[in-house]
Amino acid sequence: MAQQLALPWTEKYRPKHVAEVVGNADAKEKFVAWIKTWLAGTPSKKAALLYGPPGVGKTTLVYAVANDFRLEVLEANASDVRTSEALKRRIMSAVRELSLFGYRGKIILLDEVDGITPSQDRGGLDTILQIIEISRHPVVMTANNPWDPKLRKLREASMLIEFKRLTRYEIISALKRICSKEGILVDYGVLKEIAKRAKGDLRAAINDLQAVAYGKKRVTSQDLMVLWERSAQLNMFEIVRSIFMARTASQAKSVLAQPNLNYEMLFHWISENIPYQYGESLEAIAEAYNALSRADVFMGRIKRLQNWTLLPYALELLTAGVAVVEHKPKFRFTRYSFPQKIKILSLTKEKREVRERVLEAIARKCHTSKREANLEYLPYIEIIYESNPSQGRKILRWLGIGERTFKKIARKKEA
Ligand SMILES: Nc1ncnc2c1ncn2[C@@H]1O[C@H](COP(=O)(O)OP(=O)(O)OP(=O)(O)O)[C@@H](O)[C@H]1O
Ligand SMILES: [Mg+2]
Repeated sequence: MAQQLALPWTEKYRPKHVAEVVGNADAKEKFVAWIKTWLAGTPSKKAALLYGPPGVGKTTLVYAVANDFRLEVLEANASDVRTSEALKRRIMSAVRELSLFGYRGKIILLDEVDGITPSQDRGGLDTILQIIEISRHPVVMTANNPWDPKLRKLREASMLIEFKRLTRYEIISALKRICSKEGILVDYGVLKEIAKRAKGDLRAAINDLQAVAYGKKRVTSQDLMVLWERSAQLNMFEIVRSIFMARTASQAKSVLAQPNLNYEMLFHWISENIPYQYGESLEAIAEAYNALSRADVFMGRIKRLQNWTLLPYALELLTAGVAVVEHKPKFRFTRYSFPQKIKILSLTKEKREVRERVLEAIARKCHTSKREANLEYLPYIEIIYESNPSQGRKILRWLGIGERTFKKIARKKEA
């Protein structure tokens, strides 16, 4: 359970040592050799530009090398350097100074130099060239695309080190390491699918792994659903539009052919946007909401009873029921808005998750359902905790709920 509150795995498992950085052996070797020339006082080039696709370990390698060689990293996002005069001054003096006690030196890291837009600001790139010029320490830059003409001078001043996409095999092996450290058992097919989707980007793969393994000890191909749902949200605008535009039931239902439609999300989107789309006709709004409310009844039953045979009815209402209404106004282009409800839900996500865990703990200990725990147990525990904290703490201890966790969700005492 503890893993639910944990750090993003990309951070938790960011390699600390060069040896742990997967893949791109040539790039690693070249970079380490270059740092060594610096430490020996004879660098061939003052700067290095690590370039390649996202999520392959460019930034990670810099930190790992720094750690292995006891170097301090002074990092600045390259585009910040230009916007902030103060930051620029700080870096300018830092690159001249020696390192803090205990370090053998430092690395100046300017991350994502391709983010600089010279059209808006000529100074940014010049500042970096200046930094390279005066620095007494290795200057390392990273970029996804180093071939942009605007970066020509930086390229000339730097040792170029190319990173390639990671292979599927490399990604799978990195994922396996995380699984074993997390103590979770993940089917090989799942790892393969995640690695395939990642297209060489280990950060994306790790994020996907965390999403599918969320709160689980054992992960099978069924859990991959989560990922499909996530990509479906991208074109929700188009889906909503085709439903409202549809003139026949079957046109409206054609969106259901989408393999990865998130029905619940669709429900909120439709619900939020009916008044905008049907604004000209109150009757149409009423009819559409009527269909939606019936869909809602079905969806509630489906969730409560896990009765999936009801799904086609709910979906029929959600699509055709909303699209084919008697007083339908002529279709107008409408700027759909993102459902408020989902916004609020995501704002309160952490709190809801904590609440879920507390309810689970109560349910488990008291041999009851989470629903009962919510209605019949939690309120009393709150009252006891408020009126007699030491008694309350005893109960929490027995339930295995941390007091801090509990306080996060407990209702606030009236002032
Ligand atoms: N080669 C790798 N070995 C081990 N872990 C990696 C590797 N590449 C990426 N990761 C994981 O992915 C995360 C992101 O990697 P990193 O920040 O180094 O990517 P990047 O190449 O700098 O990408 P970007 O171009 O987006 O900045 C790391 O925190 C780490 O968990
Ligand atoms: Mg990076």
